Amino acid sequence: MAKLDGAKVLVIGGASGVGFAVAEAAMAAGAEVVVGSSQAARIEAAAKKLGQGTRGLTVDVKDEASVAAFFEAAGPFDHLVFTAGDWGHFFGPTRDLDVEASKARIEVRFWGAARAAKHATRQIAKEGSITLTGGMLGHRPMPGMPLVAASAHSTEGLAMGLARDLAPIRVNAVCLGLITSEQVQGMGEATIKGFTANLPLPRAGTVEEAAEAYLYLMQCTYVTGQIVRVDGGGSLI
Ligand SMILES: NC(=O)c1ccc[n+]([C@@H]2O[C@H](COP(=O)([O-])OP(=O)(O)OC[C@H]3O[C@@H](n4cnc5c(N)ncnc54)[C@H](OP(=O)(O)O)[C@@H]3O)[C@@H](O)[C@H]2O)c1
Repeated sequence: MAKLDGAKVLVIGGASGVGFAVAEAAMAAGAEVVVGSSQAARIEAAAKKLGQGTRGLTVDVKDEASVAAFFEAAGPFDHLVFTAGDWGHFFGPTRDLDVEASKARIEVRFWGAARAAKHATRQIAKEGSITLTGGMLGHRPMPGMPLVAASAHSTEGLAMGLARDLAPIRVNAVCLGLITSEQVQGMGEATIKGFTANLPLPRAGTVEEAAEAYLYLMQCTYVTGQIVRVDGGGSLI
């Protein structure tokens, strides 16, 4: 396995949650890290907290010019991790679906990832990797959430398609179950318990556990086009 010592890792979505934990783990493995997200104050605070010369760059993945500027400022790099996601949800009966409004549902997670992949190609090393982020609700959908399921699938499909198109650059995705990022902690303990009590591992995962999967996908040089699940066994039930 190639080590991350001396590698340069970009984490879009690195201001918080899973992305921040990936940035911390990559740094601990010896990587130089650049974190990006849309709110300048948040990304600057994250970079400061990570320390050791970590750079924080503002990028709004809804805006292609902003994404292009991010990669230009970041310069040549080895690995891109994309965990950016907003939390606007579209729940409700399909018969009442507001199709136009719903398009915004995948603007960050899917189109943002596509924009990032496009502009990453200008700077990424030939033996580099891109790791996107999907979610278990794509594989175990719940009533009232067809768009959440579609959104998760779209990102994982993008990773598989990019793995063929960008080879030998490797492209994979991590499919997350419920992970206790700050956002998820905000749901409260009872809700988290409700979602996880029946899992083979009956609890939510930690951001550090999620980060392990991203590090594996960056480091294992014979893995591409794969979806690695970090879901407490949720896909078995
Ligand atoms: N946690 C879970 O249980 C779980 C489960 C399944 C899937 N996921 C997915 O995994 C990803 C990470 O989740 P998380 O819990 O770590 O969430 P999080 O803490 O909210 O992280 C998302 C990050 O994306 C950034 N972001 C939002 N909009 C952006 C934009 N337009 N451009 C650039 N960056 C943007 C946010 O920073 P700024 O506000 O500064 O932009 C934030 O740092 C999300 O896509 C989420 O949907 C999470």
